[in-house]
Amino acid sequence: MESEFWFDSWEQGGTKTSFHLPEVHEHARLLARLGLVAGARVLVPLCGKTTDLRFFAETAAEVVGVELVPRAVAEFFAENGLDPVEEEPDVFRAGNLVIRRQDVFKLGPDVVGPVDLVYDRAALIAFPDDMRQRYADAITRLLRPGARYFINTLEYHPRLPSPPFSVGPEEIAERFGRAFDVEHVAAEPRPDHRMVAKFGLTDLVEHGFLLRAR
Ligand SMILES: C[S@@+](CC[C@H](N)C(=O)[O-])C[C@H]1O[C@@H](n2cnc3c(N)ncnc32)[C@H](O)[C@@H]1O
Repeated sequence: MESEFWFDSWEQGGTKTSFHLPEVHEHARLLARLGLVAGARVLVPLCGKTTDLRFFAETAAEVVGVELVPRAVAEFFAENGLDPVEEEPDVFRAGNLVIRRQDVFKLGPDVVGPVDLVYDRAALIAFPDDMRQRYADAITRLLRPGARYFINTLEYHPRLPSPPFSVGPEEIAERFGRAFDVEHVAAEPRPDHRMVAKFGLTDLVEHGFLLRAR
């Protein structure tokens, strides 16, 4: 999706930012239970103002969020009662929690540093088909062998022309199978999901994939 779409979404708020959840996501808790968060450097691309950032920061060595829209970054710090230091232009730090206010496509390994775990919730699926491979390549570039990459996706029918886009196991294998070992760790039917009634979907499954960089 082009940048203006996200600037407009954050400007309007309400249903336009209904991807934002008040609670820590179950998949963030799953990663902690698997021992992948404690002591790790965790990268959260397209972080919005997710509460998962704070959850990870409780035990991680460092959490680095990446978010394009200044309003989302400002809301995150304000709503969490944090007073960050701008340690470099557009890089905000509160303790071991950093948010880089920038385009994820301009992120390089030199800037990000070593990453142990990438947590991708509603990030890959925020992009239309023609941008998803570019995004997959951008994240892959950041990771050393052994690094873990968790991807949460939604798969549903009929497919919609706006985010969140439908992405299932075949697409994950196709896009990531060369550079990563892929494990399909969660597949939960979600008939209660807000999108089912709103768009008349026949089904919706929430997936979790745990990848390891080769
Ligand atoms: C669907 S939301 C998901 C937010 C978050 N992961 C969550 O779970 O609430 C996608 C987020 O990515 C941000 N975004 C979109 N394009 C971006 C880009 N190119 N670089 C960085 N952030 C971007 C949007 O502003 C939005 O906050």
